[in-house]
Amino acid sequence: MIGKYLNGLLMLTLCCVSNADLVKQCAEQQKLATHLAQSCCELTRPSLDKGNAECRSSLNLPKRKFNFAERYTINMCIEECNYIASGYIDIDPPYRLDPVRIEENLQIIMPEPKTKSVKFMTETYSKCEKFRQHHASRFTLHLPDVEFIEQPCNPFALQITICMRIFAMQNCPREFFVNSKECNMTKNYFLNCVGDIGSNLS
Ligand SMILES: *[C@@H]1O[C@H](CO)[C@@H](O)[C@H](O)[C@H]1NC(C)=O
Repeated sequence: MIGKYLNGLLMLTLCCVSNADLVKQCAEQQKLATHLAQSCCELTRPSLDKGNAECRSSLNLPKRKFNFAERYTINMCIEECNYIASGYIDIDPPYRLDPVRIEENLQIIMPEPKTKSVKFMTETYSKCEKFRQHHASRFTLHLPDVEFIEQPCNPFALQITICMRIFAMQNCPREFFVNSKECNMTKNYFLNCVGDIGSNLS
């Protein structure tokens, strides 16, 4: 699921690639890389997020295939529901991440050694909050209303989650990165084809 919306969004974060061969190579790798990004860094695997299923079912979605705009809106609402349920943000804007609640939750769900995994993830949340603040316009899609979503959702949580996944692919600590040729290709894709988050925080 994450892979599907990452896919569309990476196009928006693509930047600074001007070499024609690299553009072609990036385009060829995009689909596989965004798919693999779900599993290559152990710290950002969607399976760690137990709240997703419950939030999804609370939306009472129709049983059919969804187009890109619908999927994006659904994901926006699922992430927002999840962040609010976990206490990461308040119910109402202006949204700010609650670093204490985030760390408490990470202490429970992150793999060992927690000193490393929790530290990496808390830092990533704080960097992504900064990144989003400065680059929200780059992330913001203007999409049509989706008729089966009754309460409009704010993109804040989804934007943080997307940033987290991109940053983790660019910087995942070695001990949590899957050692395979495919994951190495994926990491190179995120380093070469997607804007660097760590150096764009202001
Ligand atoms: C992946 O890259 C790492 C670091 O660059 C390297 O040590 C490792 O051997 C590579 N793994 C494979 C399977 O190619």
